[in-house]
Amino acid sequence: MHSMLEILILAAGKGTRMRSDLPKVLHKLAGKSLLGHVVDTAHDLGAAQTCVVYGFGGEAVPQAMADDKLTFVLQAEQHGTGHAVKQALPRLSDTSVTLVLYGDVPLIHAATLQPLVAAAQAGRLGLLTVDLAQPDGYGRIVRENGRVVRIVEHKDATPAERAIQEVNTGILAVATRRLKQWINELKNENAQGEYYLTDIIALAVRDGVAVDTHQPAFEWEVLGVNSKAQLAGLERIHQDEIAQALLEEGVTLMDPARLDVRGTLKCGRDVVIDVNCVFEGRVELGDDVQVGANCVLRNTRVANGTRIDAFTLVDDAVIGEANRLGPFSRIRPGTRLARDVHVGNFVEIKNSQIDDGSKINHLSYVGDTTMGKKVNIGAGTITCNYDGANKHRTVIGDEVFVGSDTQLVAPVTVGKGATLGAGTTLTKDAPAGELTLSRAKQFTIGGWKRPAKQKKEG
Ligand code: UD1
Ligand code: CA
Repeated sequence: MHSMLEILILAAGKGTRMRSDLPKVLHKLAGKSLLGHVVDTAHDLGAAQTCVVYGFGGEAVPQAMADDKLTFVLQAEQHGTGHAVKQALPRLSDTSVTLVLYGDVPLIHAATLQPLVAAAQAGRLGLLTVDLAQPDGYGRIVRENGRVVRIVEHKDATPAERAIQEVNTGILAVATRRLKQWINELKNENAQGEYYLTDIIALAVRDGVAVDTHQPAFEWEVLGVNSKAQLAGLERIHQDEIAQALLEEGVTLMDPARLDVRGTLKCGRDVVIDVNCVFEGRVELGDDVQVGANCVLRNTRVANGTRIDAFTLVDDAVIGEANRLGPFSRIRPGTRLARDVHVGNFVEIKNSQIDDGSKINHLSYVGDTTMGKKVNIGAGTITCNYDGANKHRTVIGDEVFVGSDTQLVAPVTVGKGATLGAGTTLTKDAPAGELTLSRAKQFTIGGWKRPAKQKKEG
């Protein structure tokens, strides 16, 4: 049987170059904190325990990650990666294997880490290395006769060692029992006066534990974030990865470089997405859905055959089949649109249920409303759902026709098949099948003259 896996995530560093009060690992990539990405990977690997070593920013890190079933260990002062690991040792089981990850290296793939874990479970030390054209700043992998013998940090390296292009990613896996023994042997006699986790490699070699090296499928998997520029660089790489996966699934992206997915986007067949769309949280698009340019969809399901035109924002809503939304519609939380609903430009809908075939085509606000089938809402219609203290519902029956520039002062009900005349301010229920209107009578004053401007003197 394999030993269980425990994962240690180092996240105590200050991240000075981010120039931010927020701890570095809480900065967001694709809508999720850097640390959140690493934690998700740890969960994907089936870790029995995931332990985060935090420091800079105090309790902000544990607070932000409170829901993620993590163990937190404070490293109050940062004396190096070996010192960081040491703080967590009492929390780790003697019979497990430990994988060390970094809170600021967000894009590492679980598939890249599996061979390291397997090496550790087979009694070896799994080390992730990468060949870099520009290895400056990294720890170098020193080999003798092809075998890894130690790691030397850039600042401690000789010119000959600095010429080595195989570098340490910092990511490694080993039996926890061994890790505990070696970490306790570390010394800080080096250029930085730090306890280097990397020094355990030489100790493993000393103790006859073989070091297996593996390389990531992509170099960017092991890139860390130290500045906003690097964060932006990894964001693009990650977005490109998402876009390529969508293309692979058959989604048409008018420009894969102008798509942002901050969460998960599930698409059916023959989905077309125009440029500059942002998808946040969990978004599902059914078959034949078309999304126009510059739309934002957040936590939303869109059923088959619906077309969303440019500049539409949909937040926490369920959109039925064959709808037409936009351009410039705003659909707010709690909205459910049934089949064949049309919502046009400059229409805002909040917490409302709109049934099959109803149309709200221009310049309207519909809030806290239950609307039946085949209703036609004229331009400029407003549900007055808020009296300054409470929200009230508007109920509109099937096949109602609401004339333009109508206000429905809630709570109010419009019966099935009713017609409301243009300009009506509806304060009482309107009976089914009848025409209801409130309107001042139109009259004309014969012979009336506009006032003329007086000529100024001087
Ligand atoms: C480390 C490695 C180096 C490797 C490089 C890859 C060591 C000694 N060196 O160097 O071989 O090439 O990563 O990026 O391990 N951290 C803590 N507490 C500490 C110190 C660091 O939590 O006391 C965390 C940091 O937040 C950071 C990570 O560990 O996420 C790496 O620390 P850093 O100081 O950046 O190590 P490097 O000098 O880059
Ligand atoms: Ca670093």
